[in-house]
Amino acid sequence: MELTVAQGSLTDTVTPLLVVNLFQDADALGGATAAANEALGGLLGRLRAAGELRGKLGETVVVYNQGSALRAERVLVVGLGPRAEFGLEAVRRAAAAVARRARELRVAEYVTVLHGAGAGGLAPQEAAEALAEGTLLALYRYDHLRTVSEDERFEVQRATVIERDAGRLPAIRDGLRSGTLLAEATITARDLAQGPANIVTPAYLADQARAVAERHGFACQVFGLDEIREMGMGGLLAVNQGSATPPRFVVMRYQGPGARKRLAVVGKGITFDSGGISIKPAENMHYMRHDKSGAAAVVGFMQAARALELPIEALGIFAATENMPSGSAYRPGDVIRSRSGKTMEIMNTDAEGRVILSDALTYAVEQQPDAIVDLATLTGACVVALGHVASGLFSNDEQLTALMRQAGEASGERVWPMPMWPEYGALIRSSIADIKNTGGRAAGAITAAWFLRHFVQDRPWVHLDIAGTAWTEGAWGELPPYLLKDAATGVGVRLLVHFVRQWVA
Ligand code: BES
Ligand code: MN
Ligand code: ZN
Repeated sequence: MELTVAQGSLTDTVTPLLVVNLFQDADALGGATAAANEALGGLLGRLRAAGELRGKLGETVVVYNQGSALRAERVLVVGLGPRAEFGLEAVRRAAAAVARRARELRVAEYVTVLHGAGAGGLAPQEAAEALAEGTLLALYRYDHLRTVSEDERFEVQRATVIERDAGRLPAIRDGLRSGTLLAEATITARDLAQGPANIVTPAYLADQARAVAERHGFACQVFGLDEIREMGMGGLLAVNQGSATPPRFVVMRYQGPGARKRLAVVGKGITFDSGGISIKPAENMHYMRHDKSGAAAVVGFMQAARALELPIEALGIFAATENMPSGSAYRPGDVIRSRSGKTMEIMNTDAEGRVILSDALTYAVEQQPDAIVDLATLTGACVVALGHVASGLFSNDEQLTALMRQAGEASGERVWPMPMWPEYGALIRSSIADIKNTGGRAAGAITAAWFLRHFVQDRPWVHLDIAGTAWTEGAWGELPPYLLKDAATGVGVRLLVHFVRQWVA
């Protein structure tokens, strides 16, 4: 699928499908939609009056053109929702709905207006970026492992944004380009997070990170079992010791042009979380192949940082292992010494993410970054608190918190701050070690964050608990049309890029 921009007039455009849009609360058809309506002899106005065209966000209505003044074979009107709620996220969802509908219609290409850049009042470049993201992410499928029928194989080849004003073309072109790169990096993360654990092993994850680094031109170091031992990563080793598959520790580096800030991004890379000796119930255990979504986001972010030439130095770090029960598995009651020297009492082997992150965060601190952001499918408690609507945000730094919240709004990957009062930290005191790895059922997402905080010391740090946002399930209700049902979302990549844009601004 290719996204391009062309100068021209809508009514003169020859295309199998012409896309215009409509606000839910518009009194009258405006702009391009009014022009199309006029060419169609008032058909759209009549459909609006009859209540068929409501302009609800993502609603698509197709009309077929039979010999009107328009040169398009079909016209698709997509809803932009209410004006008061309109923004970049609405552009993504509208563009996503259009792309899906175009694929259903089996059109090889279509021509579209730039949603939001007219009456919506958005900057053309930002609107174009959002349009590209929504379009490409909506058309994503994970078909590597199944037989795809001839009928399903159809793909839209090209979408062209049409723009009357030549002065706006460069900005639109730039936006389409950056949106494409953002979507591609998100797809890298989706593919890695989606893969089943028998294929996406720690070694595979590390190999893919290296392949992405080579393809895009940044550095990648991979450490195996012996090196992880030498590095004293007792947490990663403990979680790995029940698995027949060796662990990996991966460090990617990207040096941006004129970089004045160093960012470390750290991911949880549990390729399968059975719970270990504290084994999980069978129901839903298959979802735990997604427990590497944090690591997948780190790889995707590094790809995006390089492709977009973000002006920072970025370190992408992840620890990867399975969490399995066996005769050699770590046990509840064990005391583990982490790379930092701090000891942890294992209360529950299913609280393994924080145990491997202890070593990864310590490594990150040693690199003396200006900020650390970690992403982890860390707790079911976070899903209870925020559902699938937002990732949990936990931090020791108010400025980073504010920037990350803004990034959440701008990217559409929402985050919500949770408190870190010291009373919560007290819940993971241990009588035999420095800390214990669970603090009971109460405030489970916060006590997990407090555990991580012990390893970042005083570095400015944000922890993102993506347990509820990393993949979609049946219970999600209405999905944004750029997400696939029962699949990895690639959450975090676009959020982090928006965060960096704000952080260096
Ligand atoms: N990977 C899970 C968290 C998880 C659960 C993510 C459900 C997404 C959906 C994590 O390793 C885990 O098992 N956490 C435990 C912690 C508990 C033992 C303190 C949990 O949330 O139950
Ligand atoms: Mn677990
Ligand atoms: Zn886990």
